[in-house]
Amino acid sequence: MDNPPTASQLALLRNAQDAREAAYAPYSNFKVGAAVRTRSGRIYTGCNVENASFGLCICAERVAIFSAVSAGDPQIVEIAMCTGADRPSPPCGACRQVLFEFGRSASVIMGNTNGVVFVSPLGRLFPEPFELPKAERPPQ
Ligand code: THU
Repeated sequence: MDNPPTASQLALLRNAQDAREAAYAPYSNFKVGAAVRTRSGRIYTGCNVENASFGLCICAERVAIFSAVSAGDPQIVEIAMCTGADRPSPPCGACRQVLFEFGRSASVIMGNTNGVVFVSPLGRLFPEPFELPKAERPPQ
């Protein structure tokens, strides 16, 4: 978590911070915003959305990633996330696995609302992703 952020990474983090404003987190009170930049250069954002049935809560990162994928723009180059925690939080394990699917070489920019920022390659945060063994994949 030691690479300094570039100007464009800080700009992506600003998108994540803005997206956090829409977070729906009445149960945890922990608001998260996320933004992904794809190979096309476009930015897609998301926030966490909770539910009274707690298992249905979804993280900000997956909302942002699925927004890019559903726009037909699935190749993720970097992802930024913003929380209100004193120490910026890394993405949860489920989001790391989902990010791997669409951006195995992505940079992860982790920030908070006070301007603390960490940057790490996904490969360092998530060195052993699950991949379906080739023999199990249906013929293309
Ligand atoms: N959350 C995220 O949005 N991203 C993460 O990486 C971890 C957790 C959300 C889920 C839930 O709404 C709240 O934070 C507390 O776990």
